[in-house]
Amino acid sequence: MEAELKRLVMRSPFAVRLEAPKREGDATLLYPFDARVAWVATCHHRTSSRISWDLCSSTAVRLEPLFADLVPVLSSDDRLPAGPRVRFSVEVGASVDFEAGPLQLRGVVKNAIVDALASRGIASDVDADAPDIVFVARRAGPPEARRTVVGIDIGGGARHRRGARVAGGLAPLRETLAAQLILLSRWDARTEPLVDPMAGSATIPIEAAGLAVGAAIRRPSDLPHRHLAAFKDLPREVPDLFPGTVPRIVALDIDQACIPAMVGNLRAAGLTGPAYDNAIVIGQQDVRTLTPDHIARLLPSVRNMQPGVFCFNPPYGVRIGAEHGDEQLLDLYADMGRALARFEGWRAACFVANPQFVYAFGHRATLTKPASNANLSGLFLVFQL
Ligand SMILES: C[S@@+](CC[C@H](N)C(=O)[O-])C[C@H]1O[C@@H](n2cnc3c(N)ncnc32)[C@H](O)[C@@H]1O
Repeated sequence: MEAELKRLVMRSPFAVRLEAPKREGDATLLYPFDARVAWVATCHHRTSSRISWDLCSSTAVRLEPLFADLVPVLSSDDRLPAGPRVRFSVEVGASVDFEAGPLQLRGVVKNAIVDALASRGIASDVDADAPDIVFVARRAGPPEARRTVVGIDIGGGARHRRGARVAGGLAPLRETLAAQLILLSRWDARTEPLVDPMAGSATIPIEAAGLAVGAAIRRPSDLPHRHLAAFKDLPREVPDLFPGTVPRIVALDIDQACIPAMVGNLRAAGLTGPAYDNAIVIGQQDVRTLTPDHIARLLPSVRNMQPGVFCFNPPYGVRIGAEHGDEQLLDLYADMGRALARFEGWRAACFVANPQFVYAFGHRATLTKPASNANLSGLFLVFQL
């Protein structure tokens, strides 16, 4: 997350220095607020799952003291949206250590916001379907100093929803995880081909293409920016941050039925047409029969092909276990390991939720990082082939 933001801010239209973030747990980074950095992050950042602008916090663990804490600080907060009328909703994260249920916590935060806005002369409606602003409340901090933090969701909700996927496939990888996987592979889009040999609905190839050119995943008009004074003077348009990069991406799958899904998703993401003829190639192929010659033939415009990277998430045997018995799956992993061994000098990065994968695949991982895909725990693994 951190390296991606650094790279994006450096290529953004702003001359801004990115401060080092603080860490909250192992999945949250806290940056001092700068609207230009927030603009870059909310429009372009692919690996974050949510982006919130924290406004205030309270150590209260009961409802009445929380309300009493929040109203005065929010009332005097000029970062709140301006009126005359604001439609808003409130979302609450896990709150097991708060002495009331999540619905009650949400109710109190909502009431505090209504009061605070009213004290600023702003009428408000709670509207979960079409809010101008989504406020978020989350519990944060170390066990001895837990707080309820209230902020504004400036990232447009759950960011793995890119709005482009039209066909899901059997076990699609979350877009945020696909982006993390590609960054962990250290793919250099200018010089290295990227191959997803089990691409399913093409989540990884689509993320790769977006990362290569620095394409935005949200437009300012899709975000609450227009309701917040801090973003008033920032651009309305979102140019690619790495224009002119022509990546070489190959998306393959053994299943013929995946091909229309890939085409549909590539088209929905704006990645089809003459401009992408040489950039993204799709095809039906069994990974077990893959050779470097084969990839070279799929990328005829690449002269002297350099070693590249494989990025993929193999079948896990959990969701699609009915088709792949355990033994069959381990055989597939072993066959994949043998096939990818033909690609000397390449790297392979995968997200896998089957603990037996590493053993069966037969290569030693140079990086191992826990992660989860839609409640399925697994590992990011990177291999030098
Ligand atoms: C977990 S899914 C990949 C999901 C994909 N990353 C996405 O986001 O849609 C695994 C894929 O591996 C494919 N697959 C299984 N055996 C294969 C093989 N021998 N060669 C190529 N693809 C294979 C399946 O058809 C399936 O699409």
